[in-house]
Amino acid sequence: MAAWILVTFLLVGVCFLLSRVCWSRTRRAKEPPLVKGWPFFGVVLEYGKNPLGFLQSAQQKYGDIFTCQLMGKYFTFVTDPFSFSAVMRQGKNLDFKKFSMGFSQRIFGHTDFTSPMLSESYRDVHSLFRQTLQGPPLQQLSQNMLGNLQTAFQHCLPSERCWKEEGLQCFTTRIMFEAGFVTLFGKKAGLLQPEGMGAVGSCMQKVMQDFHAFDGAFPALAAGVPITLCRRAWRAREALAKGLLHRELHHRMCISDLIQRRMDAFDRMHLNETEKARTHVCMLWASQANTLPAAFWSLYYTLRNPEAFAVALKEVDLILAQLPNDKPICLSKEQLESMTVLESIIKEALRLSSASIMIRVASDDFILTLDSGQEAAIRKGDYIALYPRLIHLDPDIYPNPLEFNSCSQSWDGFFAMNEIKQFLLLALWHYDLQLSELHDTLLPDRTRAGFGILPPSQDVFLRYRARADRGRQRLTRTPILVDLSTRFPASRVHTPRHHQGN
Ligand code: HEM
Repeated sequence: MAAWILVTFLLVGVCFLLSRVCWSRTRRAKEPPLVKGWPFFGVVLEYGKNPLGFLQSAQQKYGDIFTCQLMGKYFTFVTDPFSFSAVMRQGKNLDFKKFSMGFSQRIFGHTDFTSPMLSESYRDVHSLFRQTLQGPPLQQLSQNMLGNLQTAFQHCLPSERCWKEEGLQCFTTRIMFEAGFVTLFGKKAGLLQPEGMGAVGSCMQKVMQDFHAFDGAFPALAAGVPITLCRRAWRAREALAKGLLHRELHHRMCISDLIQRRMDAFDRMHLNETEKARTHVCMLWASQANTLPAAFWSLYYTLRNPEAFAVALKEVDLILAQLPNDKPICLSKEQLESMTVLESIIKEALRLSSASIMIRVASDDFILTLDSGQEAAIRKGDYIALYPRLIHLDPDIYPNPLEFNSCSQSWDGFFAMNEIKQFLLLALWHYDLQLSELHDTLLPDRTRAGFGILPPSQDVFLRYRARADRGRQRLTRTPILVDLSTRFPASRVHTPRHHQGN
């Protein structure tokens, strides 16, 4: 019986492939050049091997806009940075929700919020990002994050001044994951000790392990492998969802406004409890998947570059010298914004490690006019893709694009920028930090290209110990004023959609 089912599946699969092979697309008038590839699979092998290299050579061959097929779908890449805003302005013809919702529904297993019953209410849920992650609420969220980061740092601070050794990625992830999780989803009510310690600490570790097991399968899931075939990732996702069921969240204190309001909205929409919890897993992933590697690279580049390290340390000491020594660290919006050296380091780290692809779906046939005036006919149902890494590593824009020096992206007033700044501030404030081995170049893991900030291809050893001069310095150090902004200037190229507030 099982053999017959298998044979039937194989026959259906072969027929499906044959139908695709026999039908190949021809370029219509005014359409962008069509990159040749295998039937159905298109250029997936070349692209998968080296996305940046493939896009760079296609850009050289075909120009600012070209179309290629990837696993049956047609993607039109716009590679001219000056035309990015032309794409973003096409809200009427290019749909973000259609792509992102289908993608996230498939991977996270939540409800289809585009269904006629839910789409109206979901619009309100979506507007919560703007209402709770920007403007005045951002200050409260950042303040909570700073408190939680201090807790996470405090309970792993070595009591004596001996060196400890740990992977830099482990160190960064342990602290940032715990603080970020507690900031969004609150802490267990009635705890006498911080969440990262004792039995409760092992709960947090389990959550982190589940997060990594699920996140590790993300490239396969995004490529279309059903999650039921990735048993470990499926179990991890369901375990995360179990911890985020509303009946569990009701026992947690200090839940962020964003999550509280999403819970209320989902309750009003009468979703089932597991589906509500899976939308929270989706939010957990969005809040951590990019932030963890971004924090890693920010600290890594700070420690690798003596000049950046020196000016960053001065900036941190200058800020902390202004604060009372006997209270938890609390930073105003102005103090956070004044940390321009840390900001420049983070932006530069993002330039070197960011590999996000922004994708929209054409909801109709239309003509896209590029910045140069060139017109391109776009077909309904095709995907339009922007890959800012092409700009970030363009030698015409950044001489020596692979070197850490100037900066690219602007993330003003965005939560992730604040939380990474606070992480760097506390790490530099609490510890003497050294990288144990200086690798020539630590490469990012390219298999994750397209999903945001690339993690490192391997971890590196970090040595750290409590800083001897910590308390004393805050009372006695005379601020040294240097113009750091000229050393690490900021320029504005690209701000992701939700960070701009549109
Ligand atoms: C360095 C860290 C981060 C980076 C580089 C990053 C980058 C991005 C990018 C590129 C997108 C897709 C935007 C588009 O296609 O227009 C996105 C979407 C999103 N991110 Fe982030 N992100 C980061 C951190 C965070 C954090 C900390 C949160 C939440 C606390 C968050 C919440 C979201 C949400 C909710 C969306 C979907 C927005 C929508 O549907 O309109 N992100 N992010």
